[in-house]
Amino acid sequence: MRRTALAAFMALLTLSSAATAENYPSHPITIVVPFSAGGPSDAMTRILAERMKTTLGEAILVENTTGAGGSIGVGRVVHSASDGYTIGFGHLGTHVANGAIYKLGYDLVTDLEPVVLLPSNPMIIVSKNAVPAKSLNELLAWLKSRPEPAAAGTAGAGSGSHIAGLAFETASGVKLQYVPYRGTGPAMNDLVAGQIDIIVDQLSNSINQVRAGTIRGYAVTDARRAEQASDIPTTDEAGLPGFHMTLWSGLWVPKGTPKEIVTKLNAAAVDALNDPSVRHQLENLGLQMPPADRLTPEALGDWQKAEIAKWWPVIKAANVKIE
Ligand code: MLT
Repeated sequence: MRRTALAAFMALLTLSSAATAENYPSHPITIVVPFSAGGPSDAMTRILAERMKTTLGEAILVENTTGAGGSIGVGRVVHSASDGYTIGFGHLGTHVANGAIYKLGYDLVTDLEPVVLLPSNPMIIVSKNAVPAKSLNELLAWLKSRPEPAAAGTAGAGSGSHIAGLAFETASGVKLQYVPYRGTGPAMNDLVAGQIDIIVDQLSNSINQVRAGTIRGYAVTDARRAEQASDIPTTDEAGLPGFHMTLWSGLWVPKGTPKEIVTKLNAAAVDALNDPSVRHQLENLGLQMPPADRLTPEALGDWQKAEIAKWWPVIKAANVKIE
C-alpha cells in the first residue's frame, strides 16, 4: 500500500512539474544582476531581457541586488524557488573568483544550473583625465613614481574589475589601492569626477566615456584591437605584452529547475543573441559574441568548471583581503 502511494505521489510530482514547465512562463520573470544599475552587467542584461521577453511572452524584470563582489546577488538566486522565475546574471568574477575568496555558503557549481554563455568583455585600462600620462608606458611610470599606491576602483573583492586589477599588478609590478563600489557604474562616476585614479574596467563600461573624452583609455587587454575602439592599442602594442583578459558572462538558475524550463530560457537567450539589432547594440559596446557552438547549458557548465580549475590557484595565491 505504502509503495503504491509513493509511486502515485512521484507520478503526480512528475506530472505537475511537466505541467509547470509546459505553462512556463505564466507570470513575470526576474533577472538578478549582482551589481549596480547603469554598470556593464546591468546594461548587457537589460538589452538581452528586452528581447528575451518577446520569445518567452512574459515581462522580464531586472533586479539589482548588490554587494560583496556580487556574491550577495548570486546567493539571492541560489536561495530562490527552482521554478524558472528567478534567473541570475554572472561572470568570471561572481561564478568563479568569488568561490576562491569568500565563504559563500553555497556552491557555485552544484547549487546552480547553467543556462547560457553570454558575450564577453575585453578589459581596458582607464584613468581620470588629471593623470599626467598620454600612453600606457607613461601611465606605468606615473604609477611607479607615486609614493603611495594609486586608487583603483572596483566592484568589490572578486569582481571582474578587481580580478583584472590583480592581473594588472602581476603583469606590471605596480601596487594598487583598491576602492570598492557596488558596481563599476558608480566607480566610473568617481573616475570621471577625479575621485579615484584608475579602473581596469570592462570595455563596454568605459567605451562611451573614452569616446566622450571624460576619461583616458590606454590599452585593451586583448590580442587584437576592439573594432569599436580601434584607436586604442592592445596591451601587446602599448607595452604590457601578454597581459590578456576578457570577462565572460552567463545566466544561471537555482539547482533543481526543470530541464524543460532551462531549455526554454536557453532558447530565448540564443534568440536574443542571434537578433541583429541586439547584436548591434552589444557589439557597439565592444562586447564579443560567444561562439555559436558554445551556447548550450552544458557548454557553460563545462567552461565554468574549467575556469575554476584555472583561476582558483591564482586567486588563492594572491591571498585577497576582503575590504
Ligand atoms: C558591474 O556590472 O558593475 C561589473 O560587472 C562589476 C565588475 O565585475 O567589475
